[in-house]
Amino acid sequence: MLKIGIVGCGLQAATIASYLSVYGDEYEVVAVMDMNVPGSKARMAQKGVKVAENCIYTPDVASFIASAPKMDGIIIGTYCASHTDIACELEKLHVPLYIEKPVAIDFAQVNKLYNTFKNSSTPIQVSLPMRLCPLTQEAKKIIESGKIGKVCQVVGFEDTDGEVYFTTWFRDADKTGGMFMQKAVHDIDYMLYLAKTVPAEVCAMRAKIHYVGDKAYEQTCDSCPDRYTCQHGPTFRFNERGMAESYEDALDHLTTIRTPDGEFLRKRLCAVSKDIAIEDMGSCIIKGTNGVQITHTQNFIASCGACRRGARFVGSLGSLDIDFNHGTLCYMSSVNMDIVNYKVNGGKLSHYGGDRQLVASFIRTMRTGERGITDLIKGDGIMSTLTCIAARESADTGKFMKIAFTEE
Ligand SMILES: NC(=O)c1ccc[n+]([C@@H]2O[C@H](COP(=O)([O-])OP(=O)(O)OC[C@H]3O[C@@H](n4cnc5c(N)ncnc54)[C@H](O)[C@@H]3O)[C@@H](O)[C@H]2O)c1
Repeated sequence: MLKIGIVGCGLQAATIASYLSVYGDEYEVVAVMDMNVPGSKARMAQKGVKVAENCIYTPDVASFIASAPKMDGIIIGTYCASHTDIACELEKLHVPLYIEKPVAIDFAQVNKLYNTFKNSSTPIQVSLPMRLCPLTQEAKKIIESGKIGKVCQVVGFEDTDGEVYFTTWFRDADKTGGMFMQKAVHDIDYMLYLAKTVPAEVCAMRAKIHYVGDKAYEQTCDSCPDRYTCQHGPTFRFNERGMAESYEDALDHLTTIRTPDGEFLRKRLCAVSKDIAIEDMGSCIIKGTNGVQITHTQNFIASCGACRRGARFVGSLGSLDIDFNHGTLCYMSSVNMDIVNYKVNGGKLSHYGGDRQLVASFIRTMRTGERGITDLIKGDGIMSTLTCIAARESADTGKFMKIAFTEE
C-alpha cells in the first residue's frame, strides 16, 4: 500500500492522487498540508481519493514534516509561487516528490530549486504531461526515424479561452508569475524535448489587450452595473454564446466555482478588473544550443471554434505538424509531394492522455527509486520553467536574455 502525502490539495493534486490506483496499485493519503482543510477534503471526496482513516491535516510545511507518518511519495499542488520553497523544505525527507508546474516563478526561486536538487538523492518529478502524451511520443518516433531530417525551426502556438485564468486565482500574478509560466511552460517543454535541444537565449513580448476594464479587483458579476451588456457577463454568456440554460444559470457559472455535485467551492471574480497583472497574449523566440529556433505564441483571447494548440517542426527533409486539439500529426515531405496524416488516440485520463504516463512514472519512482522521464534535473523538467522566467524578463525589459542557472 503506497502511503501518500499531499501539500496543496486542490483540483490538480487531488486529480493526480485519484489516478494512483489506475494501474491496480493500492494507495492511501496519510497526510495533507493545506491552508483550506475543508476545501481539500471536498476536492478529495469529489475526485474519489482514498484517504486513510487517521489522515493528518496540517496548515504549514514545518508541522507537516514534524507530524506526517512515513510516506512513499508526496504530491505538491499549491499555488505556483510556493512550489520551490515547499519542495526545498521537503527535499530533506528523501521521499519521491511530484511537483506541479511551473516549478518556480522567478530567477531566485528557480536557482534555489536547481542548487538544492542538482546533487540530491530525492527524486522529483515535474508534472509535464504534454511531453509524455501519445501524440508527442508518436511525433518523437517520426522525428527520430529521420523522416524530416535535422530539425531546424519550430513554430508553436496556443490560442485558448482565458475565462478561467482571468476569473480565478490564476489572475493573481503574484501567485502564478504570469502566463508564460502558467501555460507556455508545457508547450516549451514538449518543443525542447522534440527538438532535442537545450535553450540558450530568448527574446519575448507580452501584453494585456482584450481583458481590459475599469472594475475593482474583487468585483463580481452579480453586483456589476455592466452585467447585461459586458462581453464577459451573464447575458452575453446565455444569449450570444449559448453556454447556459438561463441568465441565472450563466450568472451562477460566472460568480461561483462548484464541484460537479454543485457544492460551493469559491467565488469567481470579474475578468476585466483593472488591476489584473497577467497578460492575455505573449510570444517568445528561443535559440537552442544546437542552433534550432523555437517560436511560441499564445493568447487567451480566442475561444470556442477559434481555439488551437500545436506546432510545426521544420526539418531539412520535411515538416511535421502536431495538433493537440484534434490529436493529429501531418508529415509533409520537402523532397517530394508526399503528405501523410496520422490520427493518434490519446486514450483515457487528462492532458491528452499524458497524465497516464506521468502517474505510471511516479508509481515506478516510488516503488524502485528510478527517476522519471520528467525528472527536475536528470529529465530537464526544470528547463521550460527557467526559459519562461527568462521570457517574461525579456518581455518586461525589452532585452534578449541568456538562459542559464546561477550555480552555488
Ligand atoms: N500539470 C498541469 O497540467 C496542471 C494543470 C492544472 C494546474 N496545475 C498546477 O497545479 C497547481 C494547483 O492548481 P489547482 O488548479 O489545483 O489550484 P487549486 O486552487 O484547486 O488548488 C490549490 C490548493 O493549494 C492550497 N494552497 C495554495 N498555496 C498554499 C500554501 N502556500 N500552503 C498551503 N496550501 C496552499 C489551496 O488552499 C488549494 O487547496 C498550480 O501550480 C497549477 O499551475 C498544473
